[in-house]
Amino acid sequence: MSAPSFNAPSFHPLTIRDCRRETADTVSLLFDVPPELAERYRFVQGQHLTLKTIINGEEARRSYSICSGVDEGELRVAVKRVEGGLFSNHANDALAPGMVIDVMTPMGRFTTPLDPTAARRYVAFAAGSGITPILSIIKTVLAREPHSQFLLIYGNRAVSSIIFREELEDLKNRHMGRLAIHHLLSREPEEAGLLSGRIGADLVRDLCAGQLDAASVDAAFLCGPQAMVEEVRDALAAAGTPAERIHLELFGTSADRRPPAPAKAATDGVADGPADGATIAILQDGKRREFTLAYDGDTILDAAHRHGADLPYSCKSGVCCTCRAKIREGKVSMAENYSLEPWEVEAGYVLTCQSRPLTERVVIDFDAP
Ligand SMILES: Cc1cc2nc3c(=O)[nH]c(=O)nc-3n(C[C@H](O)[C@H](O)[C@H](O)COP(=O)(O)OP(=O)(O)OC[C@H]3O[C@@H](n4cnc5c(N)ncnc54)[C@H](O)[C@@H]3O)c2cc1C
Ligand code: FES
Repeated sequence: MSAPSFNAPSFHPLTIRDCRRETADTVSLLFDVPPELAERYRFVQGQHLTLKTIINGEEARRSYSICSGVDEGELRVAVKRVEGGLFSNHANDALAPGMVIDVMTPMGRFTTPLDPTAARRYVAFAAGSGITPILSIIKTVLAREPHSQFLLIYGNRAVSSIIFREELEDLKNRHMGRLAIHHLLSREPEEAGLLSGRIGADLVRDLCAGQLDAASVDAAFLCGPQAMVEEVRDALAAAGTPAERIHLELFGTSADRRPPAPAKAATDGVADGPADGATIAILQDGKRREFTLAYDGDTILDAAHRHGADLPYSCKSGVCCTCRAKIREGKVSMAENYSLEPWEVEAGYVLTCQSRPLTERVVIDFDAP
C-alpha cells in the first residue's frame, strides 16, 4: 500500500481578507493564509483553488483559478457571474471580508516550468474570466524570466467587461517590449487600442501571417469557452506550433454537470466481469476501502462517496482534474476527459468522476503522486 502523499489535496477553512470589485460582474477574493498553512497553499502560476460552501442548505464546490503571480505574496481568485449560476452569484452577492470558506489546496497543471536564463516566446488566448490563470502566468513569467516575451490576445464582449484591464495596462507599461496585448471586443465597435472581433481560427491565421511565428512559440496558453479554445488549438497546430507546447484550460463544457454516460457508451471497452458488478478498492491516505459497483451504475467517485469515502472532486464533468487517481489493477471506461494529458492516460491515471468499472476488480490509488 502506498504512503499518503504530503501533497494530497485537502480543504482548510480560510478567512476572506478582501473582496475587490473588478468589473460589474466580477469580484476577486483574497484569502488569509495562516503561516502554518503557507507551504500547503504555495502554488505555481496557472493553478486553481476549489472553494466549498453551503448555499441554500446544500454543499456547493467550484474551482477558481488563482490570478496572483507566484511572487506577489497573496492568494487571490476572481469569480465572474454566470447567468443563473449558483456559486458565482453567491460569490458576487454574498461573500464579504471576514467570512470563512473552505478552500482546497492548489491544483492543476495549466503551467510550464520556468527558467530564468531562457528567452522564450509565450502566447496566450483568453476570453472573459479565462484571463485569471493567464494573468498569473504573465506576471510570473515577466518576473522570473527576464529575457522572455509574452503576447496576449484577450477577448471580451465590451470594454466594461474587461477584467484586470488596468493591471494589464500597467504590466505592459512596466515591461515595454516584452508584453504585447491585443484586446478584442465582440459586441462593441473598435476604439482606441481595442479591436473589434472574436477569437477564432481566422484571427490566429492573421496573427501567424504577421507578428506571430507559430513554429517558434515555446508555450501557448488557451483559456475560455470550449469551442474557442479548441478552434485556436487547431489553428495554432495547423500553423506550426507543436501540439505539446499548446496548453488548454477549460472552465466548463457544454455537457457541464450532466451525469456522464454509462460504461456501455464508452469507447474504450465493454465490461467483462461478473454480471452483479465489480469489486472496487479505493486507496487513500494509506487506507483501503472496498465496495461492489454495477458496471452501468454510478461513477466510481459517486459510489465511493456513497460508501463513506471523502475523495477530492469539484466539477464532476471531466475538466478540473481534481478527482484524478491511478489505476493499480483492472480497467475502467472514462466517459469524458478534458484535463488529463495523453501521457497520464498512458500511465494509468483516470478521472474518477467519469469512470466506471470494466473488469471484475479495480484498484484505484488516490495517493499516487
Ligand atoms: C479549472 C477551473 C478553473 C476555473 N476558474 C475560474 C475562474 O478563475 N473564474 C471564474 O469565474 N470561473 C472559473 N471556473 C468556472 C467555475 O468553476 C464555475 O463553473 C462557474 O463560476 C459557474 O459556477 P456557478 O455555480 O455559478 O454555475 P452553475 O450553477 O454550476 O451553472 C449554471 C449554468 O451555467 C452554465 N455554466 C457553468 N459555467 C459556465 C461558464 N464558465 N460560462 C458559461 N456558462 C457556464 C452551466 O452549464 C449551467 O447551465 C473554473 C472552472 C474550472 C474547472
Ligand atoms: S471532478 Fe473535475 S474532472 Fe472529475
